[in-house]
Amino acid sequence: MKKVFVQTFGCQMNVYDTGKIHALLGKDGFESTDSMNDADVIIVNTCSIREKPELKLHSFLGDALKIKRTEDRPVTVAVAGCVAQQEGQKLLNRYRELDLVFGPDAVPRVRELVDAARSDVPRATKQVLDTEFLDLETYAFASELDPGSTGQVGAFVTIQKGCDNKCTFCIVPTTRGPEVSRSSDQILEEVKGLADTGVREITLIGQNVNSYGLKVAGERTFAQLLYAVSDVPGVERIRYTTSHPRDMGPDVIQAYRDLPKLTSHLHLPVQSGSDRVLRRMKRFYNREHYLSLVDQLRDARPDMVLSTDFILGFPGETDEDFEQTMSLLDEVAFESSFSFKYSQRPGTSALRLLKDEVAPDVAQARLVRLQQRQREISIAAHESLSGQTMDVLVEGPSRYDEGVVCGRTSTFKMINFPGTLDLVGKTVPVSVIRGFTNSLRGEWVH
Ligand code: SAH
Ligand code: SF4
Ligand code: F3S
Repeated sequence: MKKVFVQTFGCQMNVYDTGKIHALLGKDGFESTDSMNDADVIIVNTCSIREKPELKLHSFLGDALKIKRTEDRPVTVAVAGCVAQQEGQKLLNRYRELDLVFGPDAVPRVRELVDAARSDVPRATKQVLDTEFLDLETYAFASELDPGSTGQVGAFVTIQKGCDNKCTFCIVPTTRGPEVSRSSDQILEEVKGLADTGVREITLIGQNVNSYGLKVAGERTFAQLLYAVSDVPGVERIRYTTSHPRDMGPDVIQAYRDLPKLTSHLHLPVQSGSDRVLRRMKRFYNREHYLSLVDQLRDARPDMVLSTDFILGFPGETDEDFEQTMSLLDEVAFESSFSFKYSQRPGTSALRLLKDEVAPDVAQARLVRLQQRQREISIAAHESLSGQTMDVLVEGPSRYDEGVVCGRTSTFKMINFPGTLDLVGKTVPVSVIRGFTNSLRGEWVH
């Protein structure tokens, strides 16, 4: 039996693509393995959103190519994902033993690509490259693939690829190409198929889900898609990511009034609380607009929990700008956030602002302060839940404790409680006993 090992870095898009790679290579008789050492094909699905994740590729490749060099059997090593798209031939030049480099749009062709790159001779290398972007029709065809996520309580479903925005810090439009929406009929087919296999929670994914379908005449809008997914029997919960504050319209806010399956958690990346910085990032909304969205969402769904992304130390960010971000964190009281120091990305327009670069130690100090405040807010919010009973969709065994299961509330809180595995896939009432920074502890209410 031939074996394939895939290491995944980056976002849900990559997780989804890795699922496709496993499913497709499975058709050629490849078995998935968790151990790189006994794989015949080693693939690393990469992320280049910031410098740090990009660096992970290079240490990983060092290990993978060492296996290829020392084993007596042929081992094929491939780089996929966003760094593959961004660097292309440069990667093949830098690593002469590397067999295959393919971008996100080439995932549907992974069978042919691996076949072309494989050799019968140990240590031989042919070097194959595929970084073509697919057009709309070809992509629609490619999306019919089975993502292979059956047997899970929750599943991701891609609704669009690429991004048409030009946020000045961001590499994604370069690595994923222009925004292409997948046909909603096809999305609904996939959702039905997943629900039939027992999937209860559907997470619709795209870089800018709110602009879904707008470029295609007659296509459902994102809000209409939410209503349609909600009508699929078996689906109990709907989540989606990522939303852009500029494109979040009244129809989606209305959906929070109409659709109980739509969960009470929204990840709405704000990036900064300062209008000046938001302008330089080309986000096309301001603080006031963002706060008004928050009000409308909470009005439509009183228990709405919000999370966000922040970038600290964007070029030109002053102490005052940063204080605006700190005050926004308090004003919205985000219950969690991802925060990053600005990282320079090749070819992005923010590089032109670098004359105003923020000193690394200043950016670091801002990051630490923001994260400290976020922890305080998260803990306070989680502690205040003690004694409340919440509906929990049980996902599986707890990673740490025997006899304990974990699941999520509608508000996306991870909660652990004593229980047995027959609860997996069921929604049960759980009373919160204690709140921690990132999770809750509870007790099943029989
Ligand atoms: N499409 C999503 C974000 C995708 S990237 C959106 O528009 O919100 C995920 C997060 O990574 C972004 O929200 C941003 O906070 C962060 N990020 C992107 N590029 C970055 C960079 N160059 N430096 C630091 N953080 C970055
Ligand atoms: Fe990047 Fe902006 Fe597109 Fe998000 S919306 S992927 S941050 S360019
Ligand atoms: Fe990373 Fe590419 Fe996703 S850069 S965050 S893997 S779209």
